[in-house]
Amino acid sequence: MYVCVCNAVTERHIVEAARNGTTRLRQLRETLGVTAECGRCAKCAHQCLREALSSPGIERETLFRTQSDTWFSLATEAP
Ligand code: FES
Repeated sequence: MYVCVCNAVTERHIVEAARNGTTRLRQLRETLGVTAECGRCAKCAHQCLREALSSPGIERETLFRTQSDTWFSLATEAP
């Protein structure tokens, strides 16, 4: 199913992005162009991402910021 018609982004693209560490709609915009044109796909894209992240087998990434403003990531197993 197409989620973002303007950029031909499907649900499968979003699931793949989630598998590769995407956890935010903003990241989908940066990598796939979701919401970058008309923006009508925002709600559906956000829902697809949320469902993908709650699926078994999707690793979650937790970001930690140090006092020197450096970000570190820690990948964890999905429950
Ligand atoms: S449908 Fe996604 S930007 Fe238009």
